[in-house]
Amino acid sequence: MKMNEELEAAFNKQITKEYESSMLYRQLAIEFELRDLPGIAGWMANHAAEELTHADKLIKHLTDRDNHPVIGDITIPSIKMDTVTEAFEIALEAEEGVSESIRDLYAKAEKAHDFDSRPTLDWFVSEQIEEEDTVRTVLGRAKLVNEDGPGLLRLDRELAGAA
Ligand code: FEO
Repeated sequence: MKMNEELEAAFNKQITKEYESSMLYRQLAIEFELRDLPGIAGWMANHAAEELTHADKLIKHLTDRDNHPVIGDITIPSIKMDTVTEAFEIALEAEEGVSESIRDLYAKAEKAHDFDSRPTLDWFVSEQIEEEDTVRTVLGRAKLVNEDGPGLLRLDRELAGAA
């Protein structure tokens, strides 16, 4: 069943947010490419690609229900990072923001009795728990390394093989 216009607008906001998230990770990947840390750059680029699949999942949910996905204006904050730790703090803060907006979307869907969107939104709730955990783990390791050269190169190698 088609969702109501208000909920459709909220879904569209989330689609835009996923694109913003992708662009943020892509920018972080660029920062690491410039710092000659290709493993971390690749990890960030993989996450940029993953965020696009999240947007696609939401778009499909809307088109499947005969709603109209519309990508809004995409803005990303300017990135100020001097250290690897700061980069992952930025990523974690962004993920926490996405989690909050998924919870908000869930609440709106429930309020509208739009139970058709529950399976999709349940998937996103679980995904955000996983995403936050993944970023938090790398952040913890980055803090341990604390800009130590050999440690950073080890972390870079480690993340080269991680998704
Ligand atoms: Fe699609 Fe990392 O949130």
